[in-house]
Amino acid sequence: MKALVLAGGKGTRLRPLTYTMAKQLVPVANKPVLFYVMQHLQEAGIEEVGVIISPETGGQIQEALSKNPWGFNLTYILQDQPLGLAHAVRIAQSYIKEEDFIMCLGDNLIGSGIREFIETFNASRADALILLKEVDDPRMFGVAEVDSRGHIIRLVEKPKEPPSKLALVGAYVFSPAIYDTLSEIKPSWRGELEITDAIQKLLENGYVVRSSILEGWWLDTGKKDDLLEANRIVLDEWTRRDVQGTVGSKSRVVGRVVLEEEAQVERSKVRGPVVIGAGTVIEESFIGPYTSIGRGCIITNSTLEHCVALDGVRIEGVERMEDSVLGRNAVVRRLSGNHKALRLLIGEDTEVLL
Ligand code: TTP
Repeated sequence: MKALVLAGGKGTRLRPLTYTMAKQLVPVANKPVLFYVMQHLQEAGIEEVGVIISPETGGQIQEALSKNPWGFNLTYILQDQPLGLAHAVRIAQSYIKEEDFIMCLGDNLIGSGIREFIETFNASRADALILLKEVDDPRMFGVAEVDSRGHIIRLVEKPKEPPSKLALVGAYVFSPAIYDTLSEIKPSWRGELEITDAIQKLLENGYVVRSSILEGWWLDTGKKDDLLEANRIVLDEWTRRDVQGTVGSKSRVVGRVVLEEEAQVERSKVRGPVVIGAGTVIEESFIGPYTSIGRGCIITNSTLEHCVALDGVRIEGVERMEDSVLGRNAVVRRLSGNHKALRLLIGEDTEVLL
C-alpha cells in the first residue's frame, strides 16, 4: 500500500508562524508534526510515500524530509493551489495508479498510530475506510451519520446541524475506486473539492465504505490552542528523561525532562515534562510542565509554563508566561525601571494578550 501525505495548504489559522514556515513543520515537543506522521507510516510498514507540497512551502518540506530516516521511497507532488483534499487526491492519480493508499494530513496526530487502521482496511475488502472520533462540537469537521450497527448512512462537511458527534479524523484508506467519484464532485462553498463529498459519492454509487471509531486521542495542530494541546499531550505521553546538557550546581531538573546537548540550566528549576533544545541557556528561571523550548534560546529571570518557543527565542524578566507560542527569534523582554508603557514591534496577525 502507498501513502499520500498532505503537506500543502495555506495554514491561515496558524499565522503569523505560517508566513515563514510550513505548518506541518511547526514543532511539537521540538519535532515537526510531519515527522510523527512519517514515523507512524513507517511503523505501519509503508514504504512508498507521495507528499503533496505547495509552491510556497514545498522547498522547506523537501529539505526537512531529505534525511529520510524512515527509509521511504519519497515522491513529491506539487499542488499549484490549495483546492482541497479531494483535489490533492486527484492530482496524485498518476502516482497512486491502481493501488490502495492511505491518506494522512501532515498536520494531524493520531495517538495510537495507524497500523491497526490499515490492518482493518486490509481485512475489510472495502473501497474506503474512514476514521471517526466523537467530538464535542462537530460543526467544524466532516461528520458521519451512522445507523445502529455503525454503518455509515451519509457524510456531510462542516454541517450547521450535525447529524452526530462523529467527526472524520485526518486519515483515510482508499481503493482506486475513489478516482471514479472525483469527476462527479463540485467545489464547496469555500471553493475546495472536499474529500467528504467524494466519500459520500462512493456511498451513493454503491461502493463499500467502512468506518473505525478512534478511542485514543487525535489532534489537529492547525491552530494555536490545538498546537499547545498537542504539545501537552505529546510531552505527557512520549517524553522520556534524557539530560545531555549541563545542569549547574544551583539548579534542579525534576521529572521527564529532555535537555539536549550543550543546553545549560543555571540557578533555575525545570519541572517536566519539558523539552529544551540544543544550545539553549536557562538562567534564574522556572520552566514549568508542558513547555517546549527550541534550539539556541535564552531564557533569563522568567517563569514559563505550557508554552512552545521556537528556535532562537529570547525571554527576559517575564514574571509569568503561560499558554503562549513564540515564533523563531521572537524577543519578549521586560524593561527596567518603573515605566509601565509597552514597546512593541510585532508582525502581521500577531496576538498579544495582556
Ligand atoms: P487544512 O487545515 O484544512 O487547510 P489549510 O492548510 O489551508 O489551513 P487553514 O484552514 O488554516 O488555511 O488542511 C489540512 C491538511 O491538508 C494540511 O496539512 C494542509 C493540507 N492540504 C493540502 O495539502 N492541500 C489542500 O488543498 C488543502 C486544503 C490542505
